[in-house]
Amino acid sequence: MLCKCQQTSVSESSEQPQVDLSQVKGLLDAYDPATTNLITLLQGVQKIYGYLPEEVLKEVSIVTKIKEAKIYGVATFYSQFRLKPIGKYLIMLCQGTACHVNGSANIERALQEVLAVNEGDITPDGLFTYINVACLGCCSLAPVMMINDQTHAKLTTGDVAKIINEIRAQEGMAI
Ligand code: FES
Repeated sequence: MLCKCQQTSVSESSEQPQVDLSQVKGLLDAYDPATTNLITLLQGVQKIYGYLPEEVLKEVSIVTKIKEAKIYGVATFYSQFRLKPIGKYLIMLCQGTACHVNGSANIERALQEVLAVNEGDITPDGLFTYINVACLGCCSLAPVMMINDQTHAKLTTGDVAKIINEIRAQEGMAI
């Protein structure tokens, strides 16, 4: 159900990475309004791309016949959805009460220093994005951050650069 004219869309002047719409074709072809709701569909899109690309949301609107404004309303209402691409490593820094009391603001400053980006942005090497999140559910280990599926607990500001630089080294990046 994809428009042929948009299968490899995205203007070259865009700063966003090129989006391959063929990746979402199977998901959209399988869409059935009787069994699939919009949230489930958007979760599927985000699983494919890591975020909700604008071009794909246009296709979702065409296929589902749901207005783009409503789709964006859902996408921006739920914190699980992201409208910008993320790095290979998504860092979720807990800002819940226990982590806040135990110095998460200092951890965030250390992250900003070592990554040289603000929250939600992607590092120029494409490796990292950090976001602030609510309680990660392991308050006794505060302050805590997760990098993809791995939890880093009882963090100190010194730990932050060490952890990030270990990942950079694994990825063959200069430190
Ligand atoms: S407040 Fe950070 S894990 Fe609960």
